[in-house]
Amino acid sequence: MNLGRGLCCIFAYLLILLISSSNSIKAQRLPDPIANLPISWANNRSIDYSVNFTDGSTVRSILANPFFGPFFGCGFYCNGNCDNFLFAVFILGTVDNPITSPQVVWSANRNNPVRENATLQLTPEGDLILQDVDATLVWSTNTAGKSVAGLNMTQTGNLVLFDINNRTVWQSFDHPTDSLLLGQKLVEGQRLTPSVSELNWTDQGGLFSLFVTASHGLIASIGSNPPQVYYNPANWGPKQSKEASYAKFLNGSLALFILSAEPKWPDDEITVPPASSSQVMKFGSDGHLRIYDWTEEEVDWKEVADLLTGDIGECEYPMVCGNYGICSKGECSCPEAKYFRPILERQPNLGCSQVTPLSCGASQNHILLELKDITYFSFTSDLTLTDMETCKQACLNNCSCKAALFQYGDNSSSGSCFLPSQLFSLMEKTQYNSSAFLKVQISPIAQTPTSKASPTPSPSGKKKGWSAVILGSSLGAFFGVFLIISICVVLLRKKRDIEEDEDDYLDELPWMPTRFSFKDLKAATEDFSRKLGQGGFGSVFKGTLSNGTKVAVKRFEDLQLHVAEAMEVMKVAAWCLQSNFNKRPSMSVVEKVLEGVMDVEPNLDYSFTTLPPPQMTTKTHKEAVLGVSAPILPSVLSGPR
Ligand SMILES: *[C@@H]1O[C@H](CO)[C@@H](O)[C@H](O)[C@H]1NC(C)=O
Ligand SMILES: *[C@@H]1O[C@H](CO)[C@@H](O)[C@H](O)[C@H]1NC(C)=O
Ligand SMILES: *[C@@H]1O[C@H](CO)[C@@H](O)[C@H](O)[C@H]1NC(C)=O
Ligand SMILES: *[C@@H]1O[C@H](CO)[C@@H](O)[C@H](O)[C@H]1NC(C)=O
Ligand SMILES: *[C@@H]1O[C@H](CO)[C@@H](O)[C@H](O)[C@H]1NC(C)=O
Ligand SMILES: *[C@@H]1O[C@H](CO)[C@@H](O)[C@H](O)[C@H]1NC(C)=O
Ligand SMILES: *[C@@H]1O[C@H](CO)[C@@H](O)[C@H](O)[C@H]1NC(C)=O
Ligand SMILES: *[C@@H]1O[C@H](CO)[C@@H](O)[C@H](O)[C@H]1NC(C)=O
Ligand SMILES: *[C@@H]1O[C@H](CO)[C@@H](O)[C@H](O)[C@H]1NC(C)=O
Ligand SMILES: *[C@@H]1O[C@H](CO)[C@@H](O)[C@H](O)[C@H]1NC(C)=O
Repeated sequence: MNLGRGLCCIFAYLLILLISSSNSIKAQRLPDPIANLPISWANNRSIDYSVNFTDGSTVRSILANPFFGPFFGCGFYCNGNCDNFLFAVFILGTVDNPITSPQVVWSANRNNPVRENATLQLTPEGDLILQDVDATLVWSTNTAGKSVAGLNMTQTGNLVLFDINNRTVWQSFDHPTDSLLLGQKLVEGQRLTPSVSELNWTDQGGLFSLFVTASHGLIASIGSNPPQVYYNPANWGPKQSKEASYAKFLNGSLALFILSAEPKWPDDEITVPPASSSQVMKFGSDGHLRIYDWTEEEVDWKEVADLLTGDIGECEYPMVCGNYGICSKGECSCPEAKYFRPILERQPNLGCSQVTPLSCGASQNHILLELKDITYFSFTSDLTLTDMETCKQACLNNCSCKAALFQYGDNSSSGSCFLPSQLFSLMEKTQYNSSAFLKVQISPIAQTPTSKASPTPSPSGKKKGWSAVILGSSLGAFFGVFLIISICVVLLRKKRDIEEDEDDYLDELPWMPTRFSFKDLKAATEDFSRKLGQGGFGSVFKGTLSNGTKVAVKRFEDLQLHVAEAMEVMKVAAWCLQSNFNKRPSMSVVEKVLEGVMDVEPNLDYSFTTLPPPQMTTKTHKEAVLGVSAPILPSVLSGPR
């Protein structure tokens, strides 16, 4: 049976080979390397040079620069699912040997693929524009009015917009994606970012980055708040040239011009095997920086070097064992089974998930799990000259902290403490005295010591998850929840209809101050809870709230214990109020945060500057929701400035 299937595969493969060779490069007219404006191409068979490759990819090349050996082309590229195309620069096989997989080395729209019949235009004004079939603007070089004369696919793989004097106006080499080509520079300010995978070209969204700085040279990092560095072998002295620092990919090396610039010698070099014919440097989705060579014998691409490995071990790659995975001699495992389990039993390198996810709203249930002789690929001293206990406490006191990593020499009272807000793979201890403490949640939020006093059913009409939170975390959180609900409902609607007149929303948010800080919010919440404690607002609520929440109001002494939770809820509210609409959460995310399965985005902007000015009217949205008549919220939200 297996043999039959195998034969079938071979047969299918031969058939594909046959079909592919009948479409071979020789059979079709190669496009020119240069096009002059104005010109436009549609992503369909009207492009003469279309090739289906054995790896399932299709290339429709609009420009090509045939050269000795594998050569460069640019045009539309798809792989497998040809509903989605990139506008890309790729390396095709040699004219004699076209049957291989094209190597994509740059793309304009990796996060926004286009469909069949999309168009690429070099406009009379000199802009290069990619539009999808429905005419949405997907990408452009923004070069209108810069005297662009044409587009040149160069022999080295650089796609260049040149002007009437043959000067470069725009070039793909200045906008690297995940690859470098021979002769290409990675200049300070630029970065390589990997795709999600071989078949999903979407940028990983800031997971891995490779970049150059004047002070630190070549750096590879992971994460974004803040980035955690896993490759950075050197610190550099004072700069000697006015030029920006850069790394340049040459035949035989990755040359680092950090302090000086060409024509001087590089400050340092990473050795690269000499290029036999065509060579590509690619930053992979696993954070490795690899070199691929085209081999004539195998008619394919072959990995010839893994540049960072050697300076750093396999276990120092941040995602070698996934999040929370422990790397030991190339094997992955999870921390204590009571708190962690593998994401996929059979693939331990995918990492581990917490049995009970961390929830900021239940920080009283956080403990630190000590891992002996375990350390981390990165260490930034958040606290120095400190002891282990202070380090641990600092982590427990800060919701964004996911672990306390402590290192010391011979005096354990003067060590360094790192409090990462994201935790990637861990590894076996190296040379330091170091300890790792992972923050874990000891019981789910649903089981937090809820309302000893409110066994009453939840108010009708509220969602299940929320009512648990409302009853479980006393009035402080309840107050926050309704605040969020009202703010989110209004603001999410606003996010959707951003075009609409803002005035429509003013009526719904009359109590909203123009500017308040997180400190104000905190002060206001504490103030609110204190006043409640004095019975000040209690009477306001009493007559109007449903039975379930009345009990909660009576138990307002609970509130003092739950200020932290209320604060968390306030943070959600602040999240909903981000002036950058794109940073605001969706309602489903808000729900997940309230249920404790997700954390609040840590990098919030607490200056809500773009909000409309306050307008005090008598009947507010919140009053409509709660049926409360006194204007409580202004006093709550406009605390000390
Ligand atoms: C490539 O494959 C598609 C189907 O995936 C087919 O419609 C098309 O005709 C092929 N193109 C060439 C040039 O063979
Ligand atoms: C290619 O697309 C263009 C623009 O959508 C259209 O005008 C043209 O007819 C198409 N050609 C083919 C062969 O589909
Ligand atoms: C592309 O355009 C051509 C001509 O306008 C049309 O016949 C064809 O259906 C279009 N293809 C797709 C997938 O939209
Ligand atoms: C196009 O690029 C080639 C290098 O491949 C270069 O020699 C040529 O001068 C360029 N042409 C224009 C018009 O810029
Ligand atoms: C631009 O380069 C082309 C060759 O690529 C050459 O023929 C032309 O004379 C050059 N133009 C100028 C203004 O240098
Ligand atoms: C590609 O990856 C992104 C980010 O992980 C994901 O959102 C998207 O659905 C993936 N696309 C495909 C086609 O799998
Ligand atoms: C790279 O350098 C080697 C010699 O060190 C040479 O043989 C080879 O042809 C060069 N490759 C390219 C693409 O220039
Ligand atoms: C580890 O700490 C002990 C004392 O606690 C000290 O004697 C030893 O030298 C330290 N080791 C290293 C590698 O710093
Ligand atoms: C250890 O460090 C602490 C804090 O820096 C210092 O007070 C103490 O004297 C040091 N102990 C020794 C033995 O050096
Ligand atoms: C909490 O930790 C994060 C990162 O771990 C840090 O950026 C932030 O300043 C800390 N907050 C406080 C209040 O210390």
